[in-house]
Amino acid sequence: MDPLIEAALKARENAHAPFSKFKVGAAVMDSSGRIHTGCNIENATYGLTLCAERVAIFKAVSEGGRDFTRVAVVADTDTLTPPCGACRQILWEFCGDVEIVLGNLNGRTETHRLAALFPKPFDRSFL
Ligand code: THU
Repeated sequence: MDPLIEAALKARENAHAPFSKFKVGAAVMDSSGRIHTGCNIENATYGLTLCAERVAIFKAVSEGGRDFTRVAVVADTDTLTPPCGACRQILWEFCGDVEIVLGNLNGRTETHRLAALFPKPFDRSFL
């Protein structure tokens, strides 16, 4: 199995999703080959919920990870779950046009480029 998908599946098991019951796992690989993981962490306020992708990226960045080469996102859905809009913005900030592998619990995967999922991004080139 793709080690990045495997890491995302493992991280998903730690999801704190008592409200939606929708567990998500994410993993990102940095330029040194290190894998950083995240899961969604919900809150009773709902609005303070963090998606798995942002947890993975923020954990990675806070530990010095940079220049991410691949991202994996897994959830228990037949139609593979893509990153939400807010996560696409954060992924663009730190990964640019990275490869994103989506997966589910049945071993289905598909690969996308972030530029295809997030066309016409606002980023530092405008500042
Ligand atoms: N969620 C993620 O973690 N990543 C996504 O890409 C989509 C949504 C989480 C947020 C919330 O905890 C639950 O899934 C339902 O929206």
